[in-house]
Amino acid sequence: MKLLDTFSRPLGALRISVTDRCNFRCPYCMPREVFGADYPFMDRLDILRFEEIERLVGLFVGLGVRKVRLTGGEPLLRKSLPDLVARIVRIPGVDDLALTTNGVLLPEFAQALKDAGLKRLTVSLDTLNADRFRKLSDSEIPLTRVLSGLAAARSAGFAPIKLNCVLQRGINEDEILNLATFAREGGHILRFIEFMDVGTQNGWKLDAVVPIDEVLAKITALGEIEPIEDSKTGRVAERWRYRDGSGEFGVIASVTKAFCGGCDRARLSAEGALYTCLFAGSGVNLKTALRNGSSDSDLRALIVSSWKRRDDHYSELRSSNTPPTRKVEMFHIGG
Ligand code: GTP
Ligand code: 5AD
Ligand code: SF4
Ligand code: SF4
Repeated sequence: MKLLDTFSRPLGALRISVTDRCNFRCPYCMPREVFGADYPFMDRLDILRFEEIERLVGLFVGLGVRKVRLTGGEPLLRKSLPDLVARIVRIPGVDDLALTTNGVLLPEFAQALKDAGLKRLTVSLDTLNADRFRKLSDSEIPLTRVLSGLAAARSAGFAPIKLNCVLQRGINEDEILNLATFAREGGHILRFIEFMDVGTQNGWKLDAVVPIDEVLAKITALGEIEPIEDSKTGRVAERWRYRDGSGEFGVIASVTKAFCGGCDRARLSAEGALYTCLFAGSGVNLKTALRNGSSDSDLRALIVSSWKRRDDHYSELRSSNTPPTRKVEMFHIGG
């Protein structure tokens, strides 16, 4: 029997955060005032080992998961990440394995990830302006590193690569056409993302969100566009194509058009907690069960009971102005 939550949503995708660390300090995710030099990141012994993640993925697949995505923090900071890719991709039932990265370490790892069997790659890219990039990432690592990472990923055979652009009012909204052109010319799929109130530290305000309808109106300056009909349920991005056949792009409108109705995503934090929503206040601790010798069926029961009682629909509640306030931080569960 299919595992369903209280809104009859099946479990279909698993997003795994492999580390809480990052080499950037994007103010909307890990503001430096909070995540400074003395911030207590997780101890190495507290984060799940590869064999523990592999075991859990096997159990999740048994309960319906077909899509797996590795995230962070910055997932490529986790030592030997391609080894984890190789372990996950060989689990029967894993149809899709993807990675979301800031791109900095791709020059070093793109080929190894491809060789290990990673199927899809998403790179975050909010700006093409070098000075602005320094501010938006709050780091000394130059934009050229990310662009070299993209090139390395392309050479390694990843195509198309998705690019994630979080738009913020007055910060990078003037780059919509530039970024769209860059992606179209490079054969990448750009996704414009509405700035979300993830976690509790990013100073989110509704005023800072650039509504996706505004983006669509602007993009028409590049030519006519049309939606791509998609029968897949539970999608995060709405897909669009340029009518002249020059490519596609996506929009992720979590704020103005919530997509909780088909949400089939579970999230596993680096320390081994299961969250059933990006905005959940707490998770179910799987690590303790893993480490105290629980059987597969005990672990499975923990996952099943958590999914069965799942009633998360945060983005819809936000739209109705009744959102809960206790939320996990984004870098813990990887977006
Ligand atoms: P695809 O499988 O390629 O469609 O990837 P994806 O869009 O699910 O993953 P990605 O890591 O690239 O996330 C893109 C954006 O969507 C990020 O800003 C995520 O935080 C956001 N996102 C992903 N899943 C969810 C979700 O379930 N709810 C909400 N509200 N946002 C999500
Ligand atoms: N709102 C929307 N997207 C965000 N991301 C990080 N923080 C936010 C936010 N507050 C994006 C990153 C990355 C993806 C995993 O989530 O830019 O591409
Ligand atoms: Fe790091 Fe991504 Fe968060 Fe930026 S958004 S701080 S790159 S995890
Ligand atoms: Fe899923 Fe929660 Fe995002 Fe809604 S807000 S789509 S329930 S993760």
